[in-house]
Parts: sequence; structure tokens; C-alpha cells
Amino acid sequence: MLMTSAQLKPVTYKKTLPSMSLTLPPSPFRDALNDMTPNIAAELLRYGKMRPDVISLAQGEGENVTSPVIQQAAMKALQEGKTFYAPALGLPELRQEIANYTARIYGHDIPTSRIFVTSSGTNAINLCLHSILNEDDDIIAVTPIWKNLIGICEVVNANIIEVGMTLKENRWSLDLDQLFDAVTPKTKAIMIVTPNNPTGWVMSEYEIKTVMEFARARGLWVVADEIYSRCQYGKTHAPSFLDVAEPDDLLYIINSFSKSWAMTGWRLGWVIGPQIAEDKIRDLALYQNMGPPAFTQYGGIAALRYGEEFITQQLNLWTHNRDLITKKLSTMTRITLPEIDATFYAFFKIDGVDDSMHYAREMIDEVGLSLAPGSSFGSQCEGFLRLCFGVSTPRLEDALSRLERMCG
Ligand SMILES: Cc1ncc(COP(=O)(O)O)c(C=O)c1O
Repeated sequence: MLMTSAQLKPVTYKKTLPSMSLTLPPSPFRDALNDMTPNIAAELLRYGKMRPDVISLAQGEGENVTSPVIQQAAMKALQEGKTFYAPALGLPELRQEIANYTARIYGHDIPTSRIFVTSSGTNAINLCLHSILNEDDDIIAVTPIWKNLIGICEVVNANIIEVGMTLKENRWSLDLDQLFDAVTPKTKAIMIVTPNNPTGWVMSEYEIKTVMEFARARGLWVVADEIYSRCQYGKTHAPSFLDVAEPDDLLYIINSFSKSWAMTGWRLGWVIGPQIAEDKIRDLALYQNMGPPAFTQYGGIAALRYGEEFITQQLNLWTHNRDLITKKLSTMTRITLPEIDATFYAFFKIDGVDDSMHYAREMIDEVGLSLAPGSSFGSQCEGFLRLCFGVSTPRLEDALSRLERMCG
């Protein structure tokens, strides 16, 4: 179930059946799965990938392969026979390396017992949400938000209360009063993605501090997805909940190797959480997949040790591409592009579009460009499309001329 803070009433996204009375056999699956909202962005992505002439900028990844130093570390691990089960919460060496990295980049000393290595950021979100949500709990999601976080809450059968950001002077803005007013006695957690997919919005230090203090006072969990933390323009990292957290705060910070180190296919991530969560996350990880593969974790260690130059190179490309797309879209009169402070996404509104799924599908058919439909990121996002510009500049230029043909 999905609710907006404005109404605090369930908005049901169940697929509706035609009005004629069909008698369907009972579903053999869990009710929560039958009732899940469709993942239209994933459906459209599959549709776009069926045609080889389509440029797909609908998914959140670039074209850079993982850097050789990381590849070699994983290959060496394989050759050395690191092919056995690893501890469910990750190799001690990787947990230590994440602690070193967190101290070096963020200036915070976190004991390894509060660091849980996971099989991707997605898996990290899964473990964290499964560790705290009961069926019918309320969870607040600051939207726009990456659909998978919502999907996982639906699997658990929790009630999602959407608190929608709005545009002010061409920047996304979060109303903290609206966020706090949305809390009910049933609320278990507040879920925020910062830097944000799809908008590129970055939560300020003040907002982070205020939310953490509010959650602490109310005994609420904060689930902060910070996987784009290293993708803020002009900064080493974005403001983090780590900066204001007490060691035993009910706070999960999600991270991943996917984006900054170009490791989407490796499925490796991590969580920083309170000490009391270690055993719970371990139990869940044991029953989900018994932890990430051992050899990939050696790649993770190399990424954290030697990856800074690669991150800088990626940021240089993304900065160039961000400037290019901002300039180009400003010449297209139907398009409004809010400022992009972080990430490699342009999330823009097209005047006259009121069904972004339909329009995105037409764009694939007519000009061979696949983008993600805005409606999958929140109820205020109809009419928006998301373009991933973390690709090579020539590919982006080709995509932009297709976009111009479609709606310039
Ligand atoms: C906000 C956010 N969290 C998590 C993920 C998933 O990361 P991973 O590839 O590590 O599963 C994504 C991927 O796009 C994302 O945008």
C-alpha cells in the first residue's frame, strides 16, 4: 500500500481487472506479491533492450568497465582458490578496509562489528528493511525515490507513506515539517536517498541533523541510502548521516560498489548500522544467500584501496556530461531541467506529457531512445523522464539529438 502524507490514506496500486466478472483461480502466491505495484521502469527497460538500435539510458550505469586493478584482485583471489563460503557479513579484511575507507574519506571511526558487507546495495536495502519492518507498519519514503526501495517495503507488506519533495526555484526541496507531520503511531522508519536517484538532490547538513534528532527522539529508524555519496559535484563526498550519528542510533546507511567504482555487475555493497543489528543482519543474510561471494570481496578491497583516481576520472566525465546536457536541454523549450547537484541523472519535465510511461514507450518506437518514466519514482513525478548521463560523451550526444527529434 502507498499513502501520500497529504491524505494519509492508502492509495491502492493493485492491477485492476476488467469490469466483467471474471472468475480467476486463487493465486498460488503470497498476497503481498499479488498486490505489488508494477515496476514500469523495469518493464520499459526490457522493452527498449529488445531492439539493438535503441540507445538505452534508462538504467543507472555507465560504459566504463571496472578498472583493471580491481579485476586483477578478484582474478588473483580466484586463482588462489578463494572459492569457498565466506562469512555471512563479509570477509574480516573487507570489513576492515571499509572501516579504513570510512575513516579516511568521512573522518569517522566505525568498528568493523558495525559494518556488514552485502551482495549489492539492493541486498543491503533488503536486509535492513526486513530486519525492522513488520507487516502493516508505516514507513515514510521521501520521494522522488528509486522504485526498488518501495518494492521491498511492498514485499514486506508495510504501508508506504510518500512525502513528496517539490520544486522551488528550479531545485528540489524537502519540507521537514511535512515529513515530521507524516509520522503516525505506526511509523517505524524514515527512508531517504541522498544524493538522490532520480533528482540529483543532496540533503543538507542541517536537514540531516534535524531528521536524525527527530528520529532519535521518536525512536524511529532512519534508512539512508547513500550509494551516490561520492557523486556530488565539487565535493569529495556528500553530507552523510554518519556526520551526526551516535553509535547506537537506529540508523542504517546503505552503500554500494556499483556506481563510483563501476562495479554494477559485481553485486557488492555494505551497510553501517548499530551494534545491536549485527546479529540480526547476520541471521537474515544467512537465510538469504549466506553473504557475498568471496573472490568479489577481494575486488572490493582493491577498489577501496586503489580506486580514488578512478572515481576522479568518472566525476570528470560526469561533470562534462552534466554541463553538456544542461546546456542542450535549456534550448529545448518544452523541457524543464532542475539543477543537478549530484549523481549522473537528469530528471526533467516535458511540457504536455501526462503519461510518462506511454511517452517513454513512444520515444523508443519513434527515435530509438530508452529513458526511465518519471511515474515510477513517485506520485508527483508524472510528466518527468530520467536520463542516465554516466555514459561516453558521443553516446550522450547521440541520445540528445534523438531527444531533440522527439520533443525539441
Ligand atoms: C538509490 C539506489 N540504491 C541502490 C541501488 C542499487 O545498487 P546495487 O547495484 O548495489 O544493487 C541503486 C541502483 O540504481 C540506486 O539508485
